[in-house]
Amino acid sequence: MTATDHDPAVPPTSRTIRTFHPRRGRMSGRQTDALDRLWPRYGLDVSDEPVDLADLFGRRAPVVLEIGSGMGDSTAVMAAADPDRDYLAVEVHTPGIANLLDLADRAGLGNVRVARGDALELVSGLPEGVLDAVHVFFPDPWPKARHHKRRIIQPAHVALLRSRLAPGGTLHCATDWAEYAEAMRETLNADPELVDTYGGFAPRPAHRPVTKFERRALTAGRPVADLIYRRR
Ligand SMILES: C[S@@+](CC[C@H](N)C(=O)[O-])C[C@H]1O[C@@H](n2cnc3c(N)ncnc32)[C@H](O)[C@@H]1O
Repeated sequence: MTATDHDPAVPPTSRTIRTFHPRRGRMSGRQTDALDRLWPRYGLDVSDEPVDLADLFGRRAPVVLEIGSGMGDSTAVMAAADPDRDYLAVEVHTPGIANLLDLADRAGLGNVRVARGDALELVSGLPEGVLDAVHVFFPDPWPKARHHKRRIIQPAHVALLRSRLAPGGTLHCATDWAEYAEAMRETLNADPELVDTYGGFAPRPAHRPVTKFERRALTAGRPVADLIYRRR
């Protein structure tokens, strides 16, 4: 059972439908070393145990949740530029997790922690209203119609993410998949507790670093859409 099962505000979703591809990845020597050295200090496994964010970061500061942090490039750059907020990245891909631990260590970032596991389970275990922002950058687009049920941005997941935002907190999504961008906009607009800050797609915010997904998209001629909503 996850905490969502008990939360009447959040419609149930099946946890057997995953939003990620199971994939194996080879770890570089540097990543293996980073995981061994840094996991005990900066890592946590997603579990049924509730997460105490103040305890995790050793202070009370606004927390940004980075869902599907990939190799961690965005998280490391944004956390370095934003030392007054804490960044919790969640990812299932171990080489990416290890890479972020390495980046954070090299940059001496005290405001980064990395969770391994399903972001939806992690979020279910958080109390309501504890997040300052949720970032979902370049989520897997699951382009085939029969796979749309795997998309992370869908009504039940949005209701869950929004419930963990503090009033005024931000849900920021970015995608290079035009059809997913439209579907995201519809889904986010349909949530009565979210306000569209820009009345449509947002101008590209300078604080969101360019990652390999964005570079690839732009090279292939796919424009990137940002959607930035606030919890009422
Ligand atoms: C296309 S990548 C984008 C990575 C990164 N955000 C970027 O912009 O470079 C999507 C990532 O989301 C992760 N992911 C998808 N669903 C997830 C979930 N439920 N929990 C944690 N990570 C997830 C995948 O493992 C993958 O690494």
